[in-house]
Amino acid sequence: MEVIIRATLDACTSIAATIVAKHLRERKCPVLGLATGSTPERLYAELIAMFRRGEISFGGCTTFNLDEYVGLDASHPQSYHYDMRTKLFDHVDLEPSRTHLLDGCSTDLRAECRDYEQRISTAGGIHLQILGIGANGHIGFNEPFGSLSSRTWVKILSRRTLEDNARYFQDRNDVPRQVITMGVGTILKAAHCLVMAFGRQKAEAVCQMIEGPVTARCPASALQLHRRTTVILDEPAACLLQHRADFEWIERNKLPWQRYD
Ligand code: GLP
Repeated sequence: MEVIIRATLDACTSIAATIVAKHLRERKCPVLGLATGSTPERLYAELIAMFRRGEISFGGCTTFNLDEYVGLDASHPQSYHYDMRTKLFDHVDLEPSRTHLLDGCSTDLRAECRDYEQRISTAGGIHLQILGIGANGHIGFNEPFGSLSSRTWVKILSRRTLEDNARYFQDRNDVPRQVITMGVGTILKAAHCLVMAFGRQKAEAVCQMIEGPVTARCPASALQLHRRTTVILDEPAACLLQHRADFEWIERNKLPWQRYD
């Protein structure tokens, strides 16, 4: 894994935006995997700003979101459909028919999962997958102890994630217990994974993901098996890493074309 640690959220965001912009500029039909939650919010705001300055375009771009709550329709303010529309889609030149999200209200969720895998495959696979990480090490909504080779599936949220995500809902009993998510195996098929993690509450999960064993106890640790994963951390999220000096050594010795800033 390539690990990049920066002092400020602005510096982290700038590197993440540079990576996304590179994909948008260099590929004719880029396919982006998108995440929701608080972590990518600044990145999306920066991409909107870059689009408005004429520096990037999403024309020709296809997107696939990681996950969705079961039972929330696209107009529900806590649905990831709604989140993506308000935080990115409505503000850039993405063609709506090319933005794919899982339908958590499908009457046949298993068929929805199969169809999503098919749609990703028809698009030619995901070039860049943006990821956050849960405090318990989940990626997408792949909770601990699920299969590390899973494909898009329906999962039951852990109590920890239910508690963590309750802040977005009026009542914690409103948080759906079931979710539909790309599997860990689906994520691992992306050509490049970009993980961002900010804040002390992510430090344990970050440490397990990067320095721990590959284990279903921390689904994000499966990214150690991925051929190209970049992790961008702020100081609090990086504070438990034991091998920070090694990551900094690698960064210092990169060739110019290997650098993002
Ligand atoms: C959520 C989402 C994940 C997200 C993670 C972290 O439950 N399903 O895709 O990356 O948990 O969320 P946040 O960025 O709000 O901390």
